[in-house]
Amino acid sequence: MPVQIIVGAQWGDEGKGKVVDMLSERADIVARYQGGANAGHTVCIGDKQYILHLIPSGMFHENITCVIGNGVVIDPVALMSEIAQLRQAGVSVTGRLLVSHNAHLIMPYHKLLDTVREQTSDRIGTTGRGIGPAYIDKAMRSGIRIVDLLDRDELARKLTANINEKNQILTKVYGESKLDIEAIIAEYQDFDKQIDEYITDTSVYLNAALGEGKRIIAEGAQGALLDVDHGTYPFVTSSNPTSGGACTGLGIPPTAINDIVGVVKAYSTRVGNGPFPTELKDATGERLRTIGHEFGATTGRPRRCGWFDAVALKYSAMVNGITRIAVTKLDVLDEFDEIKVCVAYEAPGKRLRSFPTDAKTLESVRPVYETLPGWRSDIAGATSHDDLPPNARAYVEALGRITGTKVWLVSVGPRRDQTITLS
Ligand code: IMP
Repeated sequence: MPVQIIVGAQWGDEGKGKVVDMLSERADIVARYQGGANAGHTVCIGDKQYILHLIPSGMFHENITCVIGNGVVIDPVALMSEIAQLRQAGVSVTGRLLVSHNAHLIMPYHKLLDTVREQTSDRIGTTGRGIGPAYIDKAMRSGIRIVDLLDRDELARKLTANINEKNQILTKVYGESKLDIEAIIAEYQDFDKQIDEYITDTSVYLNAALGEGKRIIAEGAQGALLDVDHGTYPFVTSSNPTSGGACTGLGIPPTAINDIVGVVKAYSTRVGNGPFPTELKDATGERLRTIGHEFGATTGRPRRCGWFDAVALKYSAMVNGITRIAVTKLDVLDEFDEIKVCVAYEAPGKRLRSFPTDAKTLESVRPVYETLPGWRSDIAGATSHDDLPPNARAYVEALGRITGTKVWLVSVGPRRDQTITLS
């Protein structure tokens, strides 16, 4: 089993951290392939809760090496503070965390541009972590990479060129003050010694590991419907959370991949703006948010909540090549009398069974629901399929049937032991 990819199959926050953490027991390496500190992966171990933004959740297994791949955009301040947090929690980091020399850096001007742009143009509802502007510089070929931190002169030269240009944009387009070039150079030159021990050519490392028969988990951040190519553009993030992103974001070949796990919540959530056909802007949506603690792990923003969208999931399964799904947070539905699943969209004059990714069409559709009875009991202690009430089993079975996917795992709570493997 060389490479397993774990993708969020909806709009992010599906509970990938828990699934990766579980699968890590039988893996050697966990490698993150895209996004940045916009993500927030929550891992619960015993009574303790840890939130990771950049470092893969596999870090909590001592035998695992964690990799941050070339496709990730790294804020060195965020990275070093996460490393410090892990060390404080008693997790050994040295020799177990590798960072790609080719990964691009997020600089203060990226965060500033992200924020001012959101205030002055059509709002995407970004996390304000500088993700979009950092990927813009990468595509513009003016970005600064992790390896540049190791050469103080080169870093100063590249920072000067970048900040001179950004200062023009900040002052002339957005009416902001200039950034202090010397202060930023001094701050970031200091990262060389701190970060040196983690930097390597992770593509070479991963391919050598594949050659040795090691098992790799490729961990995506965000979700497929936020993919810059395949999501609900322009209301997306600026990278490729879909499974294809694992190859480009880690430098591993598609032929090494043999399993693609789609993680889905038993209902739907979305943070930020953009179309969301099954959104419930009523008391039911509020109940899902309260029971499911649906507040962003990175920004604390309330998440928009709604019923499960099988049309979106079928699309996601197609673009990702999902081989099996893990259904999380089933217990959140414990108290509902009835539960709905969106099986089609009603568009003006027609019924759609496939997912339109253009935002305008998606904004205009109305969900067509199949209604299933709730189970009205506490399933948090269920440890096997047989422990689940018949209506909960029927709901899980319906998700697999309607979406045409194989349900592999059901999660009924945040802890490791609150997990039921079905096949
Ligand atoms: P950005 O990635 O910060 O540029 O934000 C772009 C969109 O992706 C916004 O709607 C964000 O709310 C959303 N987004 C980014 N990261 C996450 C995440 O980890 N979970 C859910 N939504 C996210």
